[in-house]
Amino acid sequence: MALTSLWQDRHPRTSSEAGGPPVLEGEHDVVVIGGGLTGVVTALLLARAGRSVLLAEAEHLGAVTTGRSTAKVSLLQGTQYSRIAHRHPASVLRDYAEANREAQAWLVRFCEDHGVGVQHRPAYTYAHGAKGEQSLRAELDATRRAGLETEWVDDVPLPYPTRGAVLLLEQAQVDPCELLDALAREAVAHGVRILEGVRVRRVTGGGPVRVVSDQGTATADRVVVATNMPILDRGGFFARMHPSRSYGLALRTPVQPVDGMYLSADSPSRSLRDVPGLDGSSLLLVGGNGHKVGAPVSEQARIDGLREWTAQWFPDAEETHAWSAQDYVPHHALPFAGPVLPGSEQILVAGGYSKWGMTNGVAAALALTGRILGGRMAWGQVFEPWRFRELTGLLDSARLNGEVGLEMAGGWLRPVRHPGTGPALAEGEGEVRLDRPGAPSALSRVDGTERRVSAVCSHLKGVVRWNDAEKSWDCPLHGSRFGPDGEVLEGPATCGLGQR
Ligand SMILES: Cc1cc2nc3c(=O)[nH]c(=O)nc-3n(C[C@H](O)[C@H](O)[C@H](O)COP(=O)(O)OP(=O)(O)OC[C@H]3O[C@@H](n4cnc5c(N)ncnc54)[C@H](O)[C@@H]3O)c2cc1C
Ligand code: FES
Repeated sequence: MALTSLWQDRHPRTSSEAGGPPVLEGEHDVVVIGGGLTGVVTALLLARAGRSVLLAEAEHLGAVTTGRSTAKVSLLQGTQYSRIAHRHPASVLRDYAEANREAQAWLVRFCEDHGVGVQHRPAYTYAHGAKGEQSLRAELDATRRAGLETEWVDDVPLPYPTRGAVLLLEQAQVDPCELLDALAREAVAHGVRILEGVRVRRVTGGGPVRVVSDQGTATADRVVVATNMPILDRGGFFARMHPSRSYGLALRTPVQPVDGMYLSADSPSRSLRDVPGLDGSSLLLVGGNGHKVGAPVSEQARIDGLREWTAQWFPDAEETHAWSAQDYVPHHALPFAGPVLPGSEQILVAGGYSKWGMTNGVAAALALTGRILGGRMAWGQVFEPWRFRELTGLLDSARLNGEVGLEMAGGWLRPVRHPGTGPALAEGEGEVRLDRPGAPSALSRVDGTERRVSAVCSHLKGVVRWNDAEKSWDCPLHGSRFGPDGEVLEGPATCGLGQR
């Protein structure tokens, strides 16, 4: 059974329309693919500017990363500025901060104007080990060079020992599903047509562009692919970033558990914030224990490890929700929003937010909208997909794609150890077995039902691994995930695993 985030539980959505299954059709100025924060803000901004916009979402709004985010709307972002500073000049650092500042201001203003709860909190990046302290010093330096008014504090108001923190006052936090609902209402009021339950399979042609699904085809002058990891192989975005999955817990606490938003600089990461309870009480949100999607780890052990850590330091907290989510970390450290290929202005893509998409997703929407309407953001070059990447991310991409190649080879060899027959699976187990040469199967037993599907990812033929917490098949190559029955859950794949 899928794990559900606190936010998704608070704002349940059903996949859609009372008048029958949704149909993808019509001619539009813009089709936006993806109903997370990036897609919905882009659709709203374009509709406000008078464009006719259709938004196609595979599941329902907020179904994937946005609805499972920790939702800190913060300019202080862990050690993100030192990561950027390591690869880019100071001007890029300043533009990145400016983009995030503008996006944060836009989002907070939207919340205030539309009755969406927003809490203002100090943000801390703190260290608990010597290595973390070293990273923290570098982060202080990078954030100051970026123009943030950060300061060093020795005493960090947390219940466990730390070695100091970088502090930035007056940041914000939200409920991402409450936010998304309000954005969607506003988008619809401006004429956006939102189709939920429509998975786009292909985007083809150029004048106009055709957006193809199993429920019909729509055409548009421009298409914005806001699926986080782009679903199009053109542009090779899947090779420029790696998918990182991490875990979240919500816990009821007798008093407000923390007075700020915290993230550790060292590994394993620990993320903390509070959430106002619906009955006036408080909740603690704990995140961390991340790893690459499809890594040879037990996802269940990662959640349990987070639980143990939380019980140690917040013994009075009582768990209400546990979940996991993934985001994409680009090798050159900068997000992207722009053409899928150089000069190809008809199809635009956005993503690569390194787990800081609450501001970067809005910045990407501002950049894409400016681009479509014929304007430019002053900081827009930071998001330009075809400017920095080849130069600054090439070595990292080559190294990481070497790792992807090794994973590809290993994935195909691994099933050799598990021939076609084997012991019956216990409830909740999954195993890749080699039924016949060159055709490994993914066998699972969930809720008493045994299923057998192809173990070969429909994206680019990685061999999937079993995720024992989410009961899903996860591809270690670029992060596509599939249910036990082979249906696509998320990632760049647009088709499910083959049936056996
Ligand atoms: C654990 C975790 C914690 C985080 N915490 C923070 C935080 O505190 N602060 C912060 O700033 N950021 C945070 N982030 C990052 C942030 O949540 C994401 O970067 C952001 O939500 C991404 O938004 P998006 O709209 O680009 O993607 P998504 O929300 O993933 O939306 C993409 C949508 O596209 C749809 N889609 C995919 N394929 C298709 C298709 N073929 N056809 C139609 N639709 C399709 C999906 O169903 C999905 O709804 C966190 C991320 C994680 C993983
Ligand atoms: S996600 Fe690319 S091969 Fe599986």
